[in-house]
Amino acid sequence: MLVAPDVARLEAYVPGEQPASRSVVKLNTNENPYPPSPECAKALSSFDAASLRRYPDPVFSRLRRLVGKIHSVSPERVFVGNGSDEILSLAAKAFAWEGRRIGSLDPSYSLYKTIAAIRGVEWTADMRSRRISLFFWTNPNAPTGEYVEPSVIASYARKSKGVVLVDEAYADFARGNAMALAAAKDNRNIIVMRTLSKSYSLAGLKVGYAVGPEELISALYRIKDSYNIDAVAQTLAIAALSDRKWMRKNAAKIKKTRRAFTLALEKRGWDVVPSEANFVFARPPAPFKAAELKECLKANGVYVRHFPGPLTGERLRISIGTDGEMNRLLAVLDSLRS
Ligand SMILES: Cc1ncc(COP(=O)(O)O)c(C=O)c1O
Repeated sequence: MLVAPDVARLEAYVPGEQPASRSVVKLNTNENPYPPSPECAKALSSFDAASLRRYPDPVFSRLRRLVGKIHSVSPERVFVGNGSDEILSLAAKAFAWEGRRIGSLDPSYSLYKTIAAIRGVEWTADMRSRRISLFFWTNPNAPTGEYVEPSVIASYARKSKGVVLVDEAYADFARGNAMALAAAKDNRNIIVMRTLSKSYSLAGLKVGYAVGPEELISALYRIKDSYNIDAVAQTLAIAALSDRKWMRKNAAKIKKTRRAFTLALEKRGWDVVPSEANFVFARPPAPFKAAELKECLKANGVYVRHFPGPLTGERLRISIGTDGEMNRLLAVLDSLRS
């Protein structure tokens, strides 16, 4: 046997399709339809390629300081990952072990289950399980877009014996967030995680960060790869985070489109979960069936996501693009009905 039995058995996470064609309407991976801050293009064009012969700063000092400044915490309480997905994997290594469990909401980001399987621990949706040593609380949740008040998370964390990692990949599209919980001086077990992939329009860069108590953050530093954030990513992440106005402007446009698109779907008989993220999770009216409709839309050049299964299979997760992109999707829907 060449492959470890656990790995041979593993059901891999399936990311959304990345079609090569640029002419499709791509609403399947919650990417931002708007470009990143012009500060990123400037930083990229003035980047000194010769400097790449050296390894990057292993602890991304400038980037950490900037994140710390943004959230009013010391840099010792900031970790940066190669996408927030890397932080999730490192958290599983650091805070889960044999006999313990990793918990999450259900449905939620399906990568959590895969991460638990890779770590060799059980996954559970039973929030009251005493064996949970790490709970991934996605807020707003994916794929539903539902938002809970941070006080609900705080009350769970107070009772929990484990680490509560609040995955705030979509927080910039929501009415609030839990960062104050992570930044609080007496915080013992809450980590709040963000990504630059969604609101900052930098999915191709893969940078995410986490804020939490020093004891937990230092555990992540102990187990990370030496140079997990490359030099280009550090430079561009600093450029993007230095121009938060740009991010906020785009998030506001997306929220406006989300409102209009939700109404347009409802007018057509869809059931739409009220969303605080950059996507909606919606059930098409009969005679449409979600799985078939996804394929039909794809044949018409519109990509959306379908998650089979009892909790999710009746709905489609549709990322919010530009108004033009949403109108194209609506036009395809109308053409299928007529
Ligand atoms: C809930 C959630 N967490 C984390 C991620 C991963 O983000 P990143 O690109 O930073 O790895 C995603 C991406 O879709 C997500 O939906």
